[in-house]
Amino acid sequence: MQKVVKNISNGLKGEITIPSDKSISHRAVMFASLANGKSVIKNFSKGQDPLSSLNVCKSLGIEAEFKNDLLIINSSGKFSAPQHKLDCGNSGTTMRLMSGILAGQNFNSTLTGDESLSKRPMRRVIEPLSLMGADIKSSDFKAPLNISGKILHSIDYVSKLASAQVKSCILLAGLNAEGKTSFTEPYVSRNHTEIMLRYMGANINTYKNTVTIEKSELEPETIEICGDISSAAFFIVAGLIVPNSKIILKNVGLNPTRTGIIEVAEKMGANIEILDKKTVSGEDVGDIQISYSELKACTIEGEIIPRLIDELPVIAVLATQAKGTTIIKDAQDLRNKESDRIKAVVTELKKIGADIEETPDGFIINGKKHLTGGVEVETYHDHRLAMSLYVAGLICEKPLSINGFEWVGISFPEFEKLFNVITL
Ligand code: S3P
Repeated sequence: MQKVVKNISNGLKGEITIPSDKSISHRAVMFASLANGKSVIKNFSKGQDPLSSLNVCKSLGIEAEFKNDLLIINSSGKFSAPQHKLDCGNSGTTMRLMSGILAGQNFNSTLTGDESLSKRPMRRVIEPLSLMGADIKSSDFKAPLNISGKILHSIDYVSKLASAQVKSCILLAGLNAEGKTSFTEPYVSRNHTEIMLRYMGANINTYKNTVTIEKSELEPETIEICGDISSAAFFIVAGLIVPNSKIILKNVGLNPTRTGIIEVAEKMGANIEILDKKTVSGEDVGDIQISYSELKACTIEGEIIPRLIDELPVIAVLATQAKGTTIIKDAQDLRNKESDRIKAVVTELKKIGADIEETPDGFIINGKKHLTGGVEVETYHDHRLAMSLYVAGLICEKPLSINGFEWVGISFPEFEKLFNVITL
């Protein structure tokens, strides 16, 4: 589907509520399925990725039904052998987290995915799981993953990557393994797994960059899911770069392991205010007020990278409007996402007049540049590319035609509807 985006001349104005967090939704449905009893999930994401996790859990015998805004999960706390292959769709989180759960079951299973997911690296979970005694067969460490359920034992794993998916996979395997399993990463990645497992009664502790878990039973719970800061990111950037804008984003998750984009925007001189901060189901939540701002370039590197990894495509758009040279480094894993996001962002933003260069692990962007538009751009089957280009289109001189816009539905089906609320 092609979407044509036009320049917004009189600014974005108003207030919107940001829909449910994708990362937390995956975890809520998986962990509720592992708990013996009835769990209630409030505000489960309508994105295709979390629905893949829900469908995988259902294929493993879990009862789940929607009642208005609630997702009710009834489980005996045990999965049963699936009748068919488990389709993770486009979702790396479903595949990597489920592999940690399935490796320790007393049955065999196969995880499959779409074309993009079947190209993504799975060695990062297969290797540590194998050290725990797992039996996972694949071709070249890519999906499909054929998992023969085994009794797992604990490990102390030191990961070269700061990755919440790898960390969560090992912690979930550790939840069902004898002994104490620990996972250490070079920088702290998003910690929703740790927060939710603790909230549901698991024996789990964090010290600096190391998380330790012991075999535990989970208690069923009511889990309320906040808005997704990775979805809010598109509105944050749009509010900062579209002249005359002033918007408020309500109910946004503000977990410090996810708020790198706010820190970077503030460093660039952005006019951002956090209002009404509170805690919901163990997660920090608040409203974000954003006004159009004159921005200056900055360097983004090191420990902040995992805290804004999914926002880098739209941060690249932001940097085109900041005075000076923005350098983004240490982000080589961006090449392993739903697309090679370094190559894709550079190729597409160049088409609309950005001064942006690819480096092995990031970008060099010179601003402030006038964006031209009047061309067709591609989304590479990648939802975050589609939404980042849409935001760029709002300040292009001529209309921007975005091919493959339907991929937005992977994480944020409400995206355009919400944009319309603040452009009218
Ligand atoms: C996610 C972790 C991140 C992120 C992905 C969601 C999660 O991936 O990019 O969109 O829910 O755990 P990595 O763990 O591979 O960095």
